[in-house]
Amino acid sequence: MRMTVIGTGYLGATHAACMAELGHEVLGVDVDQRKIDSLQKGEVPFYEPGLPEVLERNLEAGRLAFTTDYQEAADFANVHFIGVGTPQQRGSYAADTRYVEAVIEDLVPKLKGEHLILGKSTVPVGTAAALQQKADELAPEGTSVEIAWNPEFLREGYAVKDTITPDRIVLGVRGEDSAAEAVAREVYATPLSNDTPFIVTDLQTAELVKVSANAFLATKISFINAVSEVCEIVGADVTQLADAIGHDDRIGRKFLGAGLGFGGGCLPKDIRAFMARAGEVGADQALTFLREVDAINMRRRQRVIDLSREVLGSLIGKRVTVLGAAFKPNSDDVRDSPALAVAGQLSLAGASVRVYDPQGMDNARKVFPTLDYASSLEDALRGAELVILATEWDEFKTMDPEWAAGLVEGKVLIDGRNVLPVAAWQSAGWELHALGRSL
Ligand code: UDX
Repeated sequence: MRMTVIGTGYLGATHAACMAELGHEVLGVDVDQRKIDSLQKGEVPFYEPGLPEVLERNLEAGRLAFTTDYQEAADFANVHFIGVGTPQQRGSYAADTRYVEAVIEDLVPKLKGEHLILGKSTVPVGTAAALQQKADELAPEGTSVEIAWNPEFLREGYAVKDTITPDRIVLGVRGEDSAAEAVAREVYATPLSNDTPFIVTDLQTAELVKVSANAFLATKISFINAVSEVCEIVGADVTQLADAIGHDDRIGRKFLGAGLGFGGGCLPKDIRAFMARAGEVGADQALTFLREVDAINMRRRQRVIDLSREVLGSLIGKRVTVLGAAFKPNSDDVRDSPALAVAGQLSLAGASVRVYDPQGMDNARKVFPTLDYASSLEDALRGAELVILATEWDEFKTMDPEWAAGLVEGKVLIDGRNVLPVAAWQSAGWELHALGRSL
């Protein structure tokens, strides 16, 4: 099948490469010439395990190409995916849908015949219907364009797996006359043949599924982090508590990892956009609890700053090493990263902060050029008076505490992700602190 994927950021580049991997002929489209040049050369402009191999393989096989030319996209296929960003609006909680709208404005006037546009971007409920109206207005005489919504649930770090073998496929269609289900069945023939659940619904429900999923995940993390605040005061252990409640399969242990909380390009902005949209449609009270979810999450960052000050007496001039800059391991994404927020705030509070991340350094430098960046884990640890584990990379989790003890000035560590083997670190002479546990 031939298709285009418009927007070649995280979502779009992955989707384009993976659709080609499923055997389709794919044209990736973006307005950013540099992004297109790099993808066309087989270079992925971000860190995503497994994606470079998929990209290269499919470029070589001739199933995948990239362009900045919308006319080429319009002529290439009758099925188009939209994977452009919907960032948080400046000065508001709402999502900025201007890039999705721009795709419709640029593409639709160039189309001829019958076309299906499948939106993958996370959008406020009601966007697909508004885009259908816009497309109807812009479609040339004799051309028909249908908009359907096919939300994406991929996780960074597992993007290839999540796209090729998704745990469900959701499709929102406008009504009985829709051609989208038949097309989607062909696009996703491989995962559907493996019994992947396929939910066909209306446009509004499909849009809401995505934001609800992310709001639920964020709420689950903030739930355990709120409990963690209580644990800290009464001397309970939040990780044992999470294990214990997680055994109830109605609850489940996943996303009960207490610590520095969530960040990244999705969860924080999605819960805010969901709240904003609920207010706009008149469900004013429905999602106000998400404000609390957001606040609990942000308080965890502050807790690490406070704990650092408690541990060191004063932050001024103290050498603090922050391990991690990416918002989670196996990613170089530093958008709304709890690790980088902590590093930045400690630096602003007067500490001399050194940061190390296996993949996120270049992106971190762009956001916080004034921090000191180490060239290796060893370099990062040398001379530190306090070490903060802020992102749970394997390199940090498996670090030898005896070796690390020989490098630092003060054997004091805050485990911001509750991942280190406590006994081994303590027997190597380390003073360990964690969130939600007294060690
Ligand atoms: C998320 C959703 O999982 C994905 O389905 C959606 O399509 C995009 O948003 P992603 O942003 O890649 O994916 O990250 P995710 O793995 O969900 O982690 C989000 C954040 O929560 C990270 O900062 C992570 O460190 C944090 N987290 C996760 C916790 O603090 N505790 C946990 O137990 C789990």
